[in-house]
Amino acid sequence: MDWGMENRLARIIKPESGHTVMLAVDHGYFLGPTHKLENPRRTIEPLLTYADSIMLTRGILRSSVKATASTPIVLRVSGGTSIIGKSLADEGITTSLEEAVRLNAAAVALSIFVGTEYERQTLLSLSKLVDEGEKYGMPVLAVTAVGKELEKRDARFLSLSSRIAAELGARMVKTYYCENFEKVVDGCPVPIVIAGGPKLATELDALQLTYEAIQKGAVGVDMGRNIWQSDHPVAMIRAIRAIVHENATVKEASDLFNRMKKGE
Ligand code: 5RP
Repeated sequence: MDWGMENRLARIIKPESGHTVMLAVDHGYFLGPTHKLENPRRTIEPLLTYADSIMLTRGILRSSVKATASTPIVLRVSGGTSIIGKSLADEGITTSLEEAVRLNAAAVALSIFVGTEYERQTLLSLSKLVDEGEKYGMPVLAVTAVGKELEKRDARFLSLSSRIAAELGARMVKTYYCENFEKVVDGCPVPIVIAGGPKLATELDALQLTYEAIQKGAVGVDMGRNIWQSDHPVAMIRAIRAIVHENATVKEASDLFNRMKKGE
């Protein structure tokens, strides 16, 4: 692997633990001002020092994150759809590689929509982005998106989608946790991070999800709503970090969360 590519990946996946806590705040690109992300700066600022990287669009980066911040940027470069439009799957590339370099991104991210009528379009976008990314040492993270069809999140679909992403050259894959998750990891030769999905009933559920994903081979999380929709987002990201980087059990992380939330 060339130096620039390796260096960028090491800024995201911490060499000390081989793991990563990525903070996803890109939801507005198709959801608009989502609950608790209405004012991105307010949501992002307290969490920034606890995130190994932050995933967002160029608009929110420029408007809501100080250029002096040292947290690596994973730039969302796909979009073009909205939650009220015809299909969330009809995405294209929205941001050039040149712009990602200008913004000092550590990686670029785009969604693929396997099994939809836009499968070919999004997979060719991934391939094109990888061609460009490899020229500049810029890793591409592929998100195995499911759009509104959350029930698609099973090992069969996620293995298929994750493997295709890796075959087309993604350096990292973001997918969902599922039953038999180890099969998804086994069939995907590049590092996998999991999204949290919609906010779970309790913080304990999200800690459990994180723990199981790490046990079954994920290198970390790229989590949004289960962190910043918590009433105690800083306590939550710190508890997630304990599992991801320090091998904490769910009980240890939950105790940490309860101690931290008192201080918030
Ligand atoms: C949308 C995304 C989101 O960033 C992703 O879903 C992660 O956030 P959450 O943990 O809230 O699901 O990639 O396609």
